[in-house]
Amino acid sequence: MPDPAESVEAMRDGLEAVGYLAAESTALVSFLAAKLGKPVLVEGPAGVGKTELAKALARATSRKLIRLQCYEGLDEAKALYEWNYRKQLLRIQAGAGAGETGDEGWSGVHDDIFAQEFLLERPLMQAIASPEPVVLLIDEIDKTDQEFEAMLLEVLSDFQISIPELGVMEARSRPLVLLTSNNSRELTEALKRRCLYLWLDYPEVERELEIVRLHAPELAETVARKLVEVVHMVRGLDLKKPPSIAESIDWARALLMLGADDIDSSVFQRTMSIIVKHRTDLDVVAERVGVKLDDGVLGRLGTTG
Ligand SMILES: Nc1ncnc2c1ncn2[C@@H]1O[C@H](COP(=O)(O)OP(=O)(O)OP(=O)(O)O)[C@@H](O)[C@H]1O
Ligand SMILES: [Mg+2]
Repeated sequence: MPDPAESVEAMRDGLEAVGYLAAESTALVSFLAAKLGKPVLVEGPAGVGKTELAKALARATSRKLIRLQCYEGLDEAKALYEWNYRKQLLRIQAGAGAGETGDEGWSGVHDDIFAQEFLLERPLMQAIASPEPVVLLIDEIDKTDQEFEAMLLEVLSDFQISIPELGVMEARSRPLVLLTSNNSRELTEALKRRCLYLWLDYPEVERELEIVRLHAPELAETVARKLVEVVHMVRGLDLKKPPSIAESIDWARALLMLGADDIDSSVFQRTMSIIVKHRTDLDVVAERVGVKLDDGVLGRLGTTG
């Protein structure tokens, strides 16, 4: 297999070979990120393949994936490093037992307990300390606060971490960094400036059909096509939460298990909660799409094209 970092086409093929069907823009940005060593900020609605892109990039480039899952209140101790207090305490107790008391003894113990072996490396540090380059996924960065973002900026621009007790720790290799966001808050300009940007959206019918067929290959093509067309139609309604690719895949797998060979209004009514997950959305969809399936409008759509 050619090196995915060789060209945009090689990147697209590399991603496809590991089960990720990338749009042109996705392949392009991934290629540039690998070439330029710049982080990528991936934004888009839920379930369109943001997290999966990082996983696929790791598989395609044969790199280890290190993931930092962000959440409200995430701090440096959980993202960067913290001291292993328990181990430090044991060391101090052992020192006291061995008669390491007094100023001299204590300074020896102090030097000891702030050495690398007492450090608990968290994902950002692991990514930088790894001798082999890794893929670093900083997932759902929008869940953290701006303070955390500022700290991250430092790491991402200098690829080094300064530890007061130990000094500066330089990166041993440069990770390929992907940050994902669901847009729950606007990220700072400073962060955006340092990143390449990729907007992932719901794919067009043909690509989504390919993705669904990749994940549920046993489902008949006519059913898969109708499924994707129905999903696209549902997305066109004004819903609280439109169905994502993840839900299309789940629906395909469910239809397969139920042995459905068509999506008529009865199959749709029974299974639509797989793609629509809000009480009010269910009402809208049942009324608007159910009727169309009875009219055979989508039935005809499903067998054409
Ligand atoms: N281009 C693609 N090729 C193959 N599979 C895909 C593609 N896009 C999405 N998928 C599949 O869709 C599902 C959802 O993707 P993923 O979890 O990456 O979404 P997400 O954008 O990270 O969602 P969220 O914002 O909820 O975290 C996964 O099972 C993934 O395999
Ligand atoms: Mg995700």
